[in-house]
Amino acid sequence: MIVSPSVLSCDFGNIQRDTEMLNQSQADWLHIDVMDGVFVPNISFGFPVLEAIRKHTNKTLDVHIMIENPDDFLEQFKKSGADILTVHYEACRHLHRTVARIKELGMKAGVALNPHTPVSVLEEIATDLDLVLIMSVNPGFGGQKFIQNSVEKVTKLVELRTAKNAQFIIEIDGGVNLETGKQLADAGADALVAGSFVFNSSSPQETISKLKSL
Ligand code: DX5
Ligand code: ZN
Repeated sequence: MIVSPSVLSCDFGNIQRDTEMLNQSQADWLHIDVMDGVFVPNISFGFPVLEAIRKHTNKTLDVHIMIENPDDFLEQFKKSGADILTVHYEACRHLHRTVARIKELGMKAGVALNPHTPVSVLEEIATDLDLVLIMSVNPGFGGQKFIQNSVEKVTKLVELRTAKNAQFIIEIDGGVNLETGKQLADAGADALVAGSFVFNSSSPQETISKLKSL
């Protein structure tokens, strides 16, 4: 299992310390949530924070952008250190073009689906994607309750990937803990994002190891 702890739940007064803690952990990626207060009802952080994290880690930066008009900022995300850039299906009018541009800039391209968006919307673009992110909460905040229907969406996405002979990684974000993580792993998830579950635990590094072994 690929584990991608969400730094949204870290201590922003100690971002270097928390990044170094993740460097020492079994985390594969660092998940970075960028929110604009328009696409989602919350504002998180932007490029300076992404650049600060980049300075302190060599791990893959898995950047999830919950913003309107993502096309205006793709290049800047690359310059700020993103390795994987995941845009929302619901925010992209010309998704095929956006995905192509992300790859042209040298990043892996992901598409995120809100809880109400069926996986079938990706049928025609499946083979172009490096990653699909299933949102198992409504995006905007850490620490929300897992939406149970997400497990079935993973099953459907695995079927779609097989039917289309596509290669994308299936990642899940929101309300992931050992219990929901196990269900997702059994359904065929490749990568799990976890924020509050990791950072609120008494040993984040041990929690990451446990998620890793699901
Ligand atoms: C929610 C973000 C998530 C968030 C997950 O909009 O996309 O990445 O940090 O937090 P938890 O794991 O606490 O649900
Ligand atoms: Zn996220």
